[in-house]
Amino acid sequence: MAELGTGTGCSLACLVAAFERHATPDQRLHYVGFENDPTMLDWWRDPANRTLIPPSERAALEAILARPLRSTQGVSRWRLLDGRATVTLVLGDAAGWLPNFSFLADAWFLDAYEPAVETLLWSREVLGHVARLTRAAGTASTFSAAGAVRTGLDAAGFDVQRVAGFDTKRHMTVATRRSGAAASRIQPWFTPPPAANPERVTILGAGLAGAWCARAFAERGAQVTVIDPQRSAPRASDVPLAAATQPDGSWQSEQVRVHDAAWHLLASRCHDLGLPHRLLPIATASGTSYRIALVARPRELIAGLLAHPLVSVATDAPHAPFVVHATAFSSTALERTVCARGRPEPNAGSMCRVTLETPLHNALMDHGHALPTDDGRHAWIGATNHPGQAHAHGAATHAGATGGTSTWSIANPMSDVSEVRARDAIIERLLGAACPQVEAWTGTRAASPDHVPMIGPVADDADFSHAYAAIRHGPLARQWPDCRYLDGVWCSLGHGSHGMLTTPLAAELIADLAFGTPRCIADELLPFLLPQRFALRALRRERP
Ligand SMILES: Cc1cc2nc3c(=O)[nH]c(=O)nc-3n(C[C@H](O)[C@H](O)[C@H](O)COP(=O)(O)OP(=O)(O)OC[C@H]3O[C@@H](n4cnc5c(N)ncnc54)[C@H](O)[C@@H]3O)c2cc1C
Ligand SMILES: C[S@@+](CC[C@H](N)C(=O)[O-])C[C@H]1O[C@@H](n2cnc3c(N)ncnc32)[C@H](O)[C@@H]1O
Repeated sequence: MAELGTGTGCSLACLVAAFERHATPDQRLHYVGFENDPTMLDWWRDPANRTLIPPSERAALEAILARPLRSTQGVSRWRLLDGRATVTLVLGDAAGWLPNFSFLADAWFLDAYEPAVETLLWSREVLGHVARLTRAAGTASTFSAAGAVRTGLDAAGFDVQRVAGFDTKRHMTVATRRSGAAASRIQPWFTPPPAANPERVTILGAGLAGAWCARAFAERGAQVTVIDPQRSAPRASDVPLAAATQPDGSWQSEQVRVHDAAWHLLASRCHDLGLPHRLLPIATASGTSYRIALVARPRELIAGLLAHPLVSVATDAPHAPFVVHATAFSSTALERTVCARGRPEPNAGSMCRVTLETPLHNALMDHGHALPTDDGRHAWIGATNHPGQAHAHGAATHAGATGGTSTWSIANPMSDVSEVRARDAIIERLLGAACPQVEAWTGTRAASPDHVPMIGPVADDADFSHAYAAIRHGPLARQWPDCRYLDGVWCSLGHGSHGMLTTPLAAELIADLAFGTPRCIADELLPFLLPQRFALRALRRERP
């Protein structure tokens, strides 16, 4: 279901309630809504307004209103009804966002006000996109019976009927898509594969990336086995990690936009799943406008995510036909794939716990962060960076930042004098004074060459390079075939210094692609995440 003008969420609440009443347990609902006014849900704050919605739909409305709402443009994703209903809410001008999506809806609510009031949402371009995003024989309906609406829908490719309206409305319009739609506007080398709808999934790696993936697939009904020789969950790090909202600004790089989408996804997934986390306001020393830090312990997150009846964890097991590599670093199994070109490099680092003289109740960020404990009397300070180095206890191919190879105590190799001094420098910068370091934790990050993770289906390197060898002559040089991917080989690798932030987004995107459901990010961000981007840059002779 898709909707133009989510507004107060009233149609959405009715839809969710109807789905709950009528759907069978194996059915899933996906709603994509477009709305440009972030304050619309506030309408329900007035208790008098809440009485206007029938009691049968009230529970669905309350569930919607409990979700964290973003106040800036972008995509939000919520899961309702124990994961059976998914909401993708796009905040911003629909005319600008529609070209950036490529799902196929079964039905649309066109709920803009009359064309005389909201000209933009009934424009030829917008209705053209509605048609592009509707399955053959899919429907659109609207309370408007205006002639301009009917002619606009007809021109876009719908068979249109004026029918009796509801309640005081004499007429409304219903329309049926005449022919098959071509939803995608993505470049062929980044075109996702057809939906695989896997019933059994193997996930390699039980760190944050693997655990989020396991949950995303289990929620969609797949039987998931997570394989990790370290059985990471019980040994994952207890050190709180932070993910920060992105700075506000008129210009935002693709990485900032990926991180922005990721932060909102992380916050809503932690909320929806009841995973233990804290939201702390951020004070910044250098005036950057980060606002909120989401702080959580990987061990608790991983344990919570893997606790699902469809997920089992093993140290070894036969692989299902659908495998997600969530091993942080690339493995030998991916040697001949496009992943080899974006192979993550190690970057060792450490964090330490300090005792504070003056209690601290917000997070501090300025090229490093201080995260206070609940009582504010201690803070975790991090993190140091050693690009190109794996910390001594783990080979780069098998190291884990949250996994089994991280190390505790002040006396480990990363806690030598120079390392303690490096942490002292961060402490001084953030807190303005030296503090005693009580304990330290070290780990190795796996950072891709462009510091953005590799997420998605995996292509064979030779095959990809052959198909697009002539790309350096330009995108218009010839007709290009769609990208071919290896059967059942997927990855979520190279989350570097931001795995707390980016691993939920990776999981959600992989599951969206695998099941062909609307994606949790706008299409324009796909080329920044898919693993073949490095192979393409090599063919174009660009920097990795
Ligand atoms: C000092 C430090 C501070 C950090 N602070 C932050 C922070 O504040 N915020 C933030 O967002 N991020 C932070 N990070 C980064 C974050 O910890 C990582 O990005 C994140 O943990 C990566 O998760 P992952 O699941 O991809 O990898 P990992 O946690 O490394 O998990 C990979 C797992 O794969 C397993 N594995 C490896 N090979 C195989 C195989 N062949 N088969 C099966 N399993 C295999 C390993 O045993 C491991 O358990 C920090 C990292 C460090 C080191
Ligand atoms: C009739 S109301 C929708 C009511 C809604 N379906 C509900 O259940 O409450 C129309 C909505 O369209 C939104 N809107 C208007 N122009 C828009 C645009 N260009 N992009 C996205 N939304 C827009 C308005 O903010 C308003 O919330």
